[in-house]
Amino acid sequence: MVKPRVIETNEGIQGEFTVEAYDKMMRHLRDKGWIETQIVLKTGINHGLCLEIGPGPGYLGLDWLSKTDRTTLKALEISPDMIKIAEKNAAQYGLLERVKYVKGDAQKMPFDNETFDGSFTNGSLHEWSQPAKIFDEIYRCLKQGGRYMISDMRRDMNPLFKWFLKLMSKPKEIRAGLVSSINASYTVQEIESILSKTNLKEATVKKTRMGFEITGRKPEKV
Ligand SMILES: C[S@@+](CC[C@H](N)C(=O)[O-])C[C@H]1O[C@@H](n2cnc3c(N)ncnc32)[C@H](O)[C@@H]1O
Repeated sequence: MVKPRVIETNEGIQGEFTVEAYDKMMRHLRDKGWIETQIVLKTGINHGLCLEIGPGPGYLGLDWLSKTDRTTLKALEISPDMIKIAEKNAAQYGLLERVKYVKGDAQKMPFDNETFDGSFTNGSLHEWSQPAKIFDEIYRCLKQGGRYMISDMRRDMNPLFKWFLKLMSKPKEIRAGLVSSINASYTVQEIESILSKTNLKEATVKKTRMGFEITGRKPEKV
């Protein structure tokens, strides 16, 4: 029996101390090569102007930019503290000209219909108070034929993996936050049920060891 979700936050990750600890953790994972860039690329998100939702300190989008040619990225982030760190990191990558961090809530994206060639997000979904709204916003802002990839942890992951994740999380101060994120995350069944009521109902949901990946393509109109 899976325990019910425990909501973690509806406001994103805020506060200088938490944001800095989160940045350190993600930098450590980046250095180990544990960033989801290959999943984004395998989905076919590899050209044009793309959207990242909840980039946090920005490593996924920055790695994606550095592995693709002539691409640009808009990254929509609710936390101003995260945007400050992401901009600093983008400067370190020498990518400030190809990425723009936009402060806003993905539930109501400040973008026109059919703006993006692709859209991706990792580790943010469990913080969204109304995921169905964001799924519909992703669909609205994608061009016809545009692809999306949404990945996150799942709270019914094997307890051994949970223990491993916790152990691997550095600095130590971030561990409590990691556990609360896992407790706030969805199961595949829950997410399939939410997706079925949105414009992303044709999405594929792949269960992975510690989470799931939602992928798909906005159809071309005939
Ligand atoms: C756990 S972090 C993940 C960061 C990064 N994507 C990663 O893989 O490390 C989740 C991020 O999503 C942001 N976020 C949460 N809800 C959001 C929303 N409704 N709109 C935009 N950003 C949001 C948080 O502020 C935070 O930076």
